[in-house]
Amino acid sequence: MILVTGVSGALGGLVYRGLSELEDLAVVPGTRTADGGTARRIDFDDPESLRAGFAGVDVLVMISAGYAEDDVVLTRHGAVAEAAAEAGIRHVIYTSLAASGERTTLAVPHRWTESRLTRSPFTTTVLRNGLYAELLGALSSQAAAEAAETGVFSAAYGTGRMSVVARQDLADVTVRVAAESDRALTAGTPGPHAGRTYELEGVTALGGADIADLLTKHHGTPITYHPAPLSSTRATLLTHPLEPYQITHTLSLLSNTAAGFLESTHTDLPGLLGTAPRPVHDLVVPGAAD
Ligand SMILES: NC(=O)c1ccc[n+]([C@@H]2O[C@H](COP(=O)([O-])OP(=O)(O)OC[C@H]3O[C@@H](n4cnc5c(N)ncnc54)[C@H](OP(=O)(O)O)[C@@H]3O)[C@@H](O)[C@H]2O)c1
Repeated sequence: MILVTGVSGALGGLVYRGLSELEDLAVVPGTRTADGGTARRIDFDDPESLRAGFAGVDVLVMISAGYAEDDVVLTRHGAVAEAAAEAGIRHVIYTSLAASGERTTLAVPHRWTESRLTRSPFTTTVLRNGLYAELLGALSSQAAAEAAETGVFSAAYGTGRMSVVARQDLADVTVRVAAESDRALTAGTPGPHAGRTYELEGVTALGGADIADLLTKHHGTPITYHPAPLSSTRATLLTHPLEPYQITHTLSLLSNTAAGFLESTHTDLPGLLGTAPRPVHDLVVPGAAD
């Protein structure tokens, strides 16, 4: 049996729906807000929910729960590793962060979790997810709205680019890895993904000038890119209703983009998808066709 955590979230929901379509598999949804239906209550911050929720599970799809300060994330992910071992889960698939994000603040809890999971009795597959195209769209949305008025797209991407991937592609790979791992365990083998770490970087890299071009096509009027300084971006973020750790991670993503670190050169994504990755332009600038 496969259990997917975080199914009310975007990635967990896509993974659960994908696995549910495979009729030969038993799949249960896990969420903090189980309402007594088919879903199990899985709250990484409540070890008791993990002890009960992991009963009878062979393959755990552990969707990272990264929206918190690092110490909180380490504690909750450590609790999952401990409870999974106690429950006799045989294989854990963890959604991590791709290598291009190594220098971002986001990498710390992901790399800690990868390391923690390897010190466990179960086998693991680490899916090092690239940055979502939807994330770049969200980071750019306010500047894109202003650009429609001013003709200037101003963002702190410098001259760098971010390699991005459609969240659905990451979900599709997760479904494949979970399904093949579960079937292999049923057949008495660890399967092809046990002990593997996959880099799921996007194949399309976009920066400020590229987004300005997409906005130009979308609006039919010229929009130019002006790199914004990090200082004014930080000042703007401080006026938003964000948690302090969100400001840290956002600025880290921006400075890593500007430094050129988020443009990747290697990915396992097409091989695991078995097809070309989905187009991403429309996910970054809604309405912009690829
Ligand atoms: N690669 C990227 O670009 C990128 C961008 C943003 C985030 N991420 C990471 O990828 C994860 C999935 O992304 P997403 O887009 O699906 O995010 P999302 O839509 O915000 O969903 C996150 C889900 O994590 C679950 N969660 C939160 N706290 C939890 C806890 N204490 N215990 C168990 N589950 C908890 C929740 O699901 P339930 O309410 O169902 O429990 C929540 O809905 C995020 O949590 C984050 O760690 C990656």
